[in-house]
Amino acid sequence: MPPMAEQVQSGAVARDRVADSVVLPIGSAVNEQGHLEVGGCDVLAVAEEFGTPAYIYAEDDLRARARAYREAFERRGVDGEVLFASKAFPATAAYKLFAEEGLSVDVASGGELHLALAAGFDPSRIHMHGNNKTDEEILMAARAGIGHLILDSFDEIERCERLLDAPIKVLIRVTPGIKPSTHDYITTGQLDSKFGFGTGDATGAQRAIERVLASEKLELVGLHAHIGSQIFELEPYRLAIAALGELAGDWCKVVDVGGGLGIAYTEDDRPPAIDDYVGVKVDGVREVFGDDVRMMIEPGRSLVANAGVTAYRVGTVKEIPGIRTYLAVDGGMSDNLRPMLYGSRYEALIADRVLADPDTLATVAGMHCESGDVIVRDAMLAAPAVGDVLVTPATGAYGHAMASNYNGVTRPPVIFCRGGEARLVVRRETFDDLTARDV
Ligand SMILES: Cc1ncc(COP(=O)(O)O)c(C=O)c1O
Repeated sequence: MPPMAEQVQSGAVARDRVADSVVLPIGSAVNEQGHLEVGGCDVLAVAEEFGTPAYIYAEDDLRARARAYREAFERRGVDGEVLFASKAFPATAAYKLFAEEGLSVDVASGGELHLALAAGFDPSRIHMHGNNKTDEEILMAARAGIGHLILDSFDEIERCERLLDAPIKVLIRVTPGIKPSTHDYITTGQLDSKFGFGTGDATGAQRAIERVLASEKLELVGLHAHIGSQIFELEPYRLAIAALGELAGDWCKVVDVGGGLGIAYTEDDRPPAIDDYVGVKVDGVREVFGDDVRMMIEPGRSLVANAGVTAYRVGTVKEIPGIRTYLAVDGGMSDNLRPMLYGSRYEALIADRVLADPDTLATVAGMHCESGDVIVRDAMLAAPAVGDVLVTPATGAYGHAMASNYNGVTRPPVIFCRGGEARLVVRRETFDDLTARDV
């Protein structure tokens, strides 16, 4: 716990802290009542209107990051596509917004493909992943006329040859043997991976290439690698691109170098800027493949994570003298699985009193029947009390996406805020939704 003197903050300092925050959505502010504003909306008012927990996004932040990616390509004269990796935030409104911003989309299941089509994406701008695509998913993708199917296994190659009537454009997913520094569960580029084809003989990217080049149903046009997620280093991407270069031939017209850029979950995190990250990938691809390949990248987290916050209501404050103070909120692992899944750290703040000194050390716990259902272990909060609205920033990625009905909770709504207007884009589930699938 920092010394008291460090904790004391003037209103001006606290305002600057919000305005300069690396975790809160762009444009976040403190209003005259001392409440947190996201997208120009008072978070307390949004919580009142739509209930808690709620995912609240600053729409302009989502758009700004999409533009930053596109402009990073445009500035470098890249012929390519920026794909929204929709697993990070599979809400129809997000697909629509990114389609409006000129992005393409990566889907990893029939469900995500359905959402992308429902949102009006041009099918040729939809590209499909998956390490175990079903017959139905392959047929659905082919009938929809998607841009590329990204092949992940020899079994999938056989499945496609059996199922397809007409040739489809494909990329081969390569696991280039690179392991960046991030959580083991979100590294995907190492040899010991369930994804894709390894570069060595054993798991056979070269064999897969030869096999697909000989196929009448599969038109091989390029290579793909995604080495992991929440990555702060840039060097692993160069290595991955170099590994793809070893496999490329004349047929290689498309190089998709995945997503992976890390984001700030805490105020201490300093991820690379979007422009620097894109720059490294563009330079790497040009160096290895020249100027004539079409380049694709697939950002997920870095497009959406910092655009969103989750608002909870504090329901109980339990002080265990000399040990810990627990604040229980009305959500938890059902709306944010990441702390339990990866031990991820988050910030928290009381939206009612953003200008007040954060003077209380507390652990923010969820309402689920698991002791591990803790969202923030040691948060410094401003005199938290029952009824307060507690906000966790940087929950815009893989929160809504991984939400569950554990303990029969209804999944939270998604609200887009812009210029002071709050727009409900996904409603809260109801108890009737919980029984809707019963037969
Ligand atoms: C194939 C693929 N592409 C892109 C992404 C998006 O990664 P990120 O959210 O780290 O940008 C993922 C995430 O798991 C992925 O598996």
